[in-house]
Amino acid sequence: MEKIRMGFIGCGGNATGHIGRALEMPEVRVAALCDVNSASIARVKERYPALGEAPVFADYQKMLAQVELDAVEISTPHTLHFEQIMASLDRGLHVLTEKPMVCTSAHARAAIEKSRAAGKILMVAYQRHLAPQFRYVRNQIMAGELGKIQFISALQDQNWYLGTLGTWRQQLSLSGGGQLNDSGSHLLDILLWMTGLEVEEVQALMARGVVQQGMVPKVQACVAALRADVRKTHIIDAAIPHAMLLEIFTQQGIGTEIIHDAAAQTPAARR
Ligand SMILES: NC(=O)c1ccc[n+]([C@@H]2O[C@H](COP(=O)([O-])OP(=O)(O)OC[C@H]3O[C@@H](n4cnc5c(N)ncnc54)[C@H](O)[C@@H]3O)[C@@H](O)[C@H]2O)c1
Repeated sequence: MEKIRMGFIGCGGNATGHIGRALEMPEVRVAALCDVNSASIARVKERYPALGEAPVFADYQKMLAQVELDAVEISTPHTLHFEQIMASLDRGLHVLTEKPMVCTSAHARAAIEKSRAAGKILMVAYQRHLAPQFRYVRNQIMAGELGKIQFISALQDQNWYLGTLGTWRQQLSLSGGGQLNDSGSHLLDILLWMTGLEVEEVQALMARGVVQQGMVPKVQACVAALRADVRKTHIIDAAIPHAMLLEIFTQQGIGTEIIHDAAAQTPAARR
């Protein structure tokens, strides 16, 4: 079997996991690595001796031009995703990009259009779609087991603001937004995917007075009215180290709750 030749754009914290998993897949060959920071590349090379002499690049355009690839994984700061997705699709490659896919809806439409025109897969790394507890709830909802959804409440706490101080995640020019754009997008994604609902209206709130020029806000909250008269509340960033709480109230009066407690590593779904 021909191996899928994968290039990695961005070799930081998150890509380290992707690279490790790719190395375990017999159908994949890690064909090239790219990062503007040579220390990131050195770290993954040291961690995974199996990478061997895989060529390395500081400029992703050079990697795309010089290495024969079938696919790339993009794991860079958010505002860079768009041009890296477009350039990779232009080269006829499949793309697995990190979230958020891009930072504006115009960019999202353009990227989706290009992937369709190129006949290539453009996938966003929203891995909860593959996690049993979320798939279970989605299957129950899609099968009509829970009746009409009436109310959803969702909360994600990661101590995000303090945890990301001093990193690119708090620079608007690279992050493209605050927590809502970052891991908050996981919560929005999974709610919409599990319920099949679409957003009709959004109200967004953020803290005032603490935002420095060019930096992201300290607190963001978003309340969205979803189609089918469902009101979803999405509040993020508080003091709890890492927790996700979803409650879905349906016609039968059943609450569905998912708690992800990273500290305890105990995801659970119950009805
Ligand atoms: N799906 C998930 O659960 C999950 C988890 C963590 C991070 N992420 C996403 O992964 C992406 C990267 O986050 P991270 O935590 O790895 O950040 P990170 O800071 O650890 O790594 C980012 C890397 O990108 C490199 N980089 C910056 N500009 C570049 C460029 N122009 N070309 C090539 N490389 C460049 C940096 O040098 C750095 O090594 C983000 O989109 C983030 O939201 C997703």
